[in-house]
Amino acid sequence: MKNILIINGPNLNLLGNREENFYGNTSLDKIKSICEDHCKKNEIKCIFFQSNHEGELIEQIHTVDKKFDGLIINPAAYTHTSVALLDALRATSKPKIEIHISNIYAREDYRRKSITSEAVSGVICGLGENGYLLAIDAIKNLIYNKP
Ligand code: DQA
Repeated sequence: MKNILIINGPNLNLLGNREENFYGNTSLDKIKSICEDHCKKNEIKCIFFQSNHEGELIEQIHTVDKKFDGLIINPAAYTHTSVALLDALRATSKPKIEIHISNIYAREDYRRKSITSEAVSGVICGLGENGYLLAIDAIKNLIYNKP
């Protein structure tokens, strides 16, 4: 069975109560359970992780090559600031998808640049929690049909 890691960055633990106009009212726990159901249907095992700490996110990314077949990551605010996350992603050879709940290209100027996306195969953004399910479909495709 294929095994994927889904990583969520800072403040995503507040989903459900946080800027609902951008992020909706679905909690991260609910997104986790939707992802787990979708993975099960696709015969994929998934581990769902969230941290508010850059170093912890980096350490999780470091586990991907040894333990997982692919990575889905919502780096949250670190998307726009973290060369350290970019480097960790670059050092990972497994398929990677970046996801954002909101459309970062329709928001403030400082959100329109994604540093981390330079190291991933593709980006899904602006489609709400459904983006996580689309990312699972996309990573499955990348895992089985290596380009
Ligand atoms: C986000 C977009 C980021 O700009 C923001 O800092 C987040 C969430 C999203 O999922 O839309 O925390 O990654």
